[in-house]
Amino acid sequence: MARFTADQYIERRVYTDPEVFRQEQDRIFRRTWQYVAHESELRQPGDYKVATIAGESYLVCRDREGGIRVFANACRHRGATLARGTRGQASAFRCPYHAWTYDLQGRLIGVPLPDGYEGGLPREDYGLPSIRVETFCGMVFACLDAEAPSLMEYLGEAAPYVERSVQGLEVIGYNKSLFRGNWKFYQENFGDGYHPPFLHQAMGPAYLSSYHVNGEAVDLGNGHMLLIYDPPKPEHLDLSRLSAALGLPLSPEVMWTSGIFNPYPKGEDTVLSLFPNTIIPDIVAVTSIHRVIPLGPDRTLLEIAILGDPRDSEEFRAFRLRQSTIWGPGGRAGIDDIAVAERCQIGASFASAPHFLMARGASEEKRGAIINEYTLRGFYREWRRHMGWGE
Ligand code: FES
Ligand SMILES: [Fe+2]
Repeated sequence: MARFTADQYIERRVYTDPEVFRQEQDRIFRRTWQYVAHESELRQPGDYKVATIAGESYLVCRDREGGIRVFANACRHRGATLARGTRGQASAFRCPYHAWTYDLQGRLIGVPLPDGYEGGLPREDYGLPSIRVETFCGMVFACLDAEAPSLMEYLGEAAPYVERSVQGLEVIGYNKSLFRGNWKFYQENFGDGYHPPFLHQAMGPAYLSSYHVNGEAVDLGNGHMLLIYDPPKPEHLDLSRLSAALGLPLSPEVMWTSGIFNPYPKGEDTVLSLFPNTIIPDIVAVTSIHRVIPLGPDRTLLEIAILGDPRDSEEFRAFRLRQSTIWGPGGRAGIDDIAVAERCQIGASFASAPHFLMARGASEEKRGAIINEYTLRGFYREWRRHMGWGE
C-alpha cells in the first residue's frame, strides 16, 4: 500500500459521511467566495436572484444606487422567506406572512400595526443582514466569511482565464439537474482530462482523437483547476460523414455542433474549475457557468447558466439555447458526467476497499499532460486545508 504517497489516495467517506458534509458547509462553503449571479441578470434596480450558500437562502439584488447587495432571504419577524423561485423584480421585499417590508438595501421600512410593541420596535435593529459581495468580469461572488481574502486574492492565477472566457458575455438561459451523487464527483470531473475520450463518445471522433494528444492540465493553486487544449481543426473532420452520422444537412448547426466552427474564435478550449463549486467550460462554440450546489452527501443540484455574446446572430443564439452544445440534460457530454457521478457514489459506499486512487502524474507537477491527476490533488489539497485535515 505504500506505493503511492498519502495525497494520492482519497478516502471514500469524504463522499458519503454526513459529518464530513456538515463540516464542508461550515469550513468550505461558509468560508469561500461563492458565485451567485451574473450582472446581466441584475440590470435594473430591484432585479434580484435567489441563491443558496451553505444551505441558506440569500437574495442577490441590484439596489437603487446601482450597487449589488446580498442579504438573507428570511424575514426578521418569524423567518418566512421574502422571495420564492429563482429570480424576479421588486421595488421592495414584502414578507407574505405579516407584511414586514424591506427596501432594496435590506432596511426594514414597514411594519403593520407597529403600536403592538411595548416601547416601540427599533426598526434599525431588524434589517436583513448583508454579506460581502465582489464582482469580476460580470460574475457576482458573495462570501459569508468577513476574514476571507479578497475575491482577487482568492481567484489568483485563475483570474486571467475567467476573464478570457466570460468577459463581455451575458446570461441567455439556464438548465438545471438534480443528481444522486456527491458534489465533488461533478467538480472533479472538470479537472479530469483522462476521461473524455472514453466517457464522452457522443462528442465525435475528431474531437476526441485530438484531445489527449495536445491537452494540458494545470494546477492553478487555491484548489482551482484548468484543462486546456486545441479544438479539432476542419481538416481532422470528414464533414460529410459527420453530417450523415447526425442525420443533418451540412448546415451551420452541424459545424457548430462538430466543434470546428466558432463565430468568435479564440484559439484553445479551456475548462476552468474554481474551488470549490464553480466551473466555466469554454469549449467549442459555447461558454457556460456551472454552479454545483450540495444538498446532501449524495444529493446535488446543478445550475448551468448558458452565456451568449451581445453580438450573436439570432440564429446562433437560438442554437446556443437549444442545446448549449454540450451541457445539461439534453447535452452530449454533461449527461455522461452526471451519470458517472451517480455511479461513483454507489462505488463510494463499499466498506471493503476504503479509498480511491488519484495518483496519475508526478507528485510535484503543476502543469503537464492532460491525462494526469495533479489538478485533482491540488483540489483536494485545498479541500484538506479548509477542512483542517492533515494528509
Ligand atoms: S414572518 Fe415576515 S412579517 Fe411575520
Ligand atoms: Fe466530463
